[in-house]
Amino acid sequence: MLKIRVPATSANLGPGFDCLGLALNVWNEITFEAAHKLTYRVAGEGAEKLNKGTRNLLTKAYALLYEVCGEKMGGVQICAHNEILMSSGLGSSAAAIVAGLFGANEMLGRPLSENGLLKLATEIEGHPDNVAPALLGGLVVSVMARQEIITRRYEIPELTLVIVKPIVDWPTRVARAVLPKSVSRVDAVYNVGRAVLVVDALRNGDLELLQKIMDDRIHQPYRLKHISGGLSAYKTAKRFGAAALSGAGPSIIAFVPPENAEKAKKEIAAVFEERGIETREIVTKPSSKGAYTI
Ligand code: HSE
Repeated sequence: MLKIRVPATSANLGPGFDCLGLALNVWNEITFEAAHKLTYRVAGEGAEKLNKGTRNLLTKAYALLYEVCGEKMGGVQICAHNEILMSSGLGSSAAAIVAGLFGANEMLGRPLSENGLLKLATEIEGHPDNVAPALLGGLVVSVMARQEIITRRYEIPELTLVIVKPIVDWPTRVARAVLPKSVSRVDAVYNVGRAVLVVDALRNGDLELLQKIMDDRIHQPYRLKHISGGLSAYKTAKRFGAAALSGAGPSIIAFVPPENAEKAKKEIAAVFEERGIETREIVTKPSSKGAYTI
């Protein structure tokens, strides 16, 4: 029997749209065991939605890896225990894709390299910023250069992260559809320098710098205005530290001094609750580990 763990991830980190991502200490744990047919069972987050059948991102990714490697996929019993909140901007789809590919690759004795897995995962997801840290752990910069995914992975110090998810309907498809097709040079320049500084601030655990430069002009303004309470929650989060929309949202992620985490969590959640919107909250840390076998 094979048992693996895959972390949640927060992409973009403000100005690093589609190229920065951080692995978080929140995990889905999945076991794979040869069986006479394909079965799939989830406990924890998303169980109700995911237990409806065996066709989902994880099983499709699993089957794809067998196909790419020219191997016949036999029956397998897949059981997951999920901690990653779904539809949150915390990389639940990326975790499912990485779990399927990584699990199949381990079952087959590792025919694909880490980069091979990353390439396949990016093809399925469409962009590398969640799948790369889900696979590699830590803070990852990734770009697509022709046929290649180029990544650099960085260790970052233990920081305290507060994540507040409003329970609203916000599919990634919509979150991408609200973005403009092109941006002005002024806004592009605004983001480029800040994205570089986000990497520097995170690597050095420099919250003061992060708070000054974790701003964005190419996706957050377009998205936050469609998320009820989003803009106010984001502004509240910024009072406690550095804040961003996590991935495409709707969760807000804040990097805060540890002693302020509980207060930040309550106040950010209160902004949504005042509008009658329920929330889920997580206080966590970055993970230097990506997907691994237990
Ligand atoms: N970079 C992606 C986005 C992450 O912002 O749309 C979510 O999949």
